[in-house]
Amino acid sequence: MSPPLHMRRDGFHPVPELSALRDDEGVARIRTMFGTDAWLVTRFEDVRTVLSHPELFSNALVPPLRPPGAPPPSAEEAAAMRAGNLLGSDPPEHTRLRRMLTAEFTVRRMRRLEPRVQQIVDDHLDAMERGGPPADLVTDFALPVPSLVICELLGVPYADRAGFQGTSKRILDVSLPPDERAAAAAEARAYIAGLIKTIRHDPGEDLLGMLVREHGDELSDAELTGIGTLLLLAGHETTANMLSLGTLALLRHPGQLTLLRDEPDRVDAAVEELLRWLSIVHSGTVKITTTEVRLGDQTLGPGETVICSLPAANRDPGLVPNPDDLDIRRDVIGHVAFGHGVHHCLGAPLARMEMRIAFPALLRRFPGLRLAGEPLFRSFTVVHGLTTMPIAW
Ligand code: HEM
Repeated sequence: MSPPLHMRRDGFHPVPELSALRDDEGVARIRTMFGTDAWLVTRFEDVRTVLSHPELFSNALVPPLRPPGAPPPSAEEAAAMRAGNLLGSDPPEHTRLRRMLTAEFTVRRMRRLEPRVQQIVDDHLDAMERGGPPADLVTDFALPVPSLVICELLGVPYADRAGFQGTSKRILDVSLPPDERAAAAAEARAYIAGLIKTIRHDPGEDLLGMLVREHGDELSDAELTGIGTLLLLAGHETTANMLSLGTLALLRHPGQLTLLRDEPDRVDAAVEELLRWLSIVHSGTVKITTTEVRLGDQTLGPGETVICSLPAANRDPGLVPNPDDLDIRRDVIGHVAFGHGVHHCLGAPLARMEMRIAFPALLRRFPGLRLAGEPLFRSFTVVHGLTTMPIAW
């Protein structure tokens, strides 16, 4: 089995066939790895159009993950699986949920978290320095830092990390049979559902406690569970892979690494360029057309599946010149690494803040940072990343 066209096998670049599709057709009919047909959207402007129109391209109409041939879930089952999942809803339901969360992720709110994130970063660098070299950047730094940050923010015990990191990985691994991924998703929800029971009785000062205190009457337990499950998964898997892949990208472009280490004021631009160039989320959530719609040179019928390739869009020459070059000196505005429109990443201010602190701190601490073995890319996964990255200094 080979991974779908829109997922990278290894390395940093979208597969050449994907870039060719963008440059030729833009919107193309493909066969998914589940044997179904879909439209793959690859040009920057077309991707933005899809993400800007939830009334034409619906997230809520996407059927829940089921093993091939399994009967569709009952309406009740489907509602429980979807409850609270921002990515599985459309406005106005999506707007209702998202409104309860936006205040928790403002840039100003993130500024208050900065000292604690700096502390978490420094603690992990201290531990690496004490124990190494060598070290594994993934398990010693890139994964634990955002995991601890999101645990503290939500009010999830960090001691439970082996469990939730494991289920997240299985949910995102498209090489697993759909029933195994669905089972992992059910496990993740059951874990958060248990926490929600406790928090209902004794809401703390963290985000889940705030949701119960301020919106506990409007939100069902299933909705609270859905929100917590998505935030926990999205809060650690994504940033972890940006930190490891981003460091590897800098090591493979030593000129860029030196520039960032010697001129830390460039960190904002560097983070945006790494987000664009790496585009770790292979596609936006799959969508279903609500009506006949014209996109690029194609006419899509109602009820058709649409997949937006974020890496292809972010490497579109229409967005930046020489898009395949990593260049932290450029001012890249409007990339779609965090998506676009109503589902634009809720955690973007948090992820940006973590990266702005973590990259320069790592480079300052270990000026001689280098690879000490072959990094291992993960293929077949919704979020591109590394499973291991041996380093020395
Ligand atoms: C949505 C990427 C970090 C929470 C998204 C989407 C993308 C994305 C592409 C849109 C998906 C779509 O339209 O289908 C990233 C990247 C990150 C990151 C690249 C790290 C560098 C985070 C963090 C959190 C988070 C740290 C949690 C606090 C969410 C949530 C949504 C989302 C809740 C759904 C928003 C909605 O549907 O309204 N993210 N994300 N993300 N992200 Fe992130």
